[in-house]
Amino acid sequence: MAASAKPRVAILISGRGSNMASLIAAAQAPDYPAEIALVAANRPAAGGLAHAAGHGIPTRALDHTAYPSREAFDAALQAELVATRIDLVCLAGFMRIFSAGFVEAWAGRMINIHPSLLPLFKGVHTHEQALRAGVRLHGCTVHYVVPELDAGPIIAQAAVPVRPGDDPDALAARILVQEHRLYPQALALVAGGRVRLNGERVVFSDGLAPADGALLSL
Ligand code: GAR
Repeated sequence: MAASAKPRVAILISGRGSNMASLIAAAQAPDYPAEIALVAANRPAAGGLAHAAGHGIPTRALDHTAYPSREAFDAALQAELVATRIDLVCLAGFMRIFSAGFVEAWAGRMINIHPSLLPLFKGVHTHEQALRAGVRLHGCTVHYVVPELDAGPIIAQAAVPVRPGDDPDALAARILVQEHRLYPQALALVAGGRVRLNGERVVFSDGLAPADGALLSL
């Protein structure tokens, strides 16, 4: 009997791809509800490409500097995603803003991980922002992508305490550990149909109620 088809996922990266690697590792479990079908980077030197290729995953490097406009790059990427029959897109350290048309084409089917507890600390240098603000909890967020940067409906979050003496690197390292836990769990929820986007709200299936103090905002 043929196994039922899993959603085909493209992971988009710009650099080392440690979150990508955590998704690839999770998807190796037979019962994981998604298949990683493509890894694409906007920088040919992105370190994660070799890791993905080493795991037998098709890779593409689309050098954004070779395209005359944002729209032209997005169109080339879209063509790759369509050719690879992609169902869901995961941004994993993809440091490039999309045109609104590309985001709208993937509405409800594209998610991102961001290294802060959104809606706090959007954009870059999130750990510096958190230390400057003096928050006692910081963390990471997986959210649906909407045209406004880091503003999409939230799927899941993980928090870490800010410790006395923390600097941005120490904080980044502890949060990255949580990113690597959170993103595979969040993708599993989306790919398994247990969360979905309904307008501007994330809708959860029944039974996804975590205990107080849980790391995940499920
Ligand atoms: C991760 O910390 C991710 O949350 C962040 O970039 C890093 C990529 O690391 N993403 C953003 O800042 C997106 N705005 P990785 O390449 O090792 O996964």
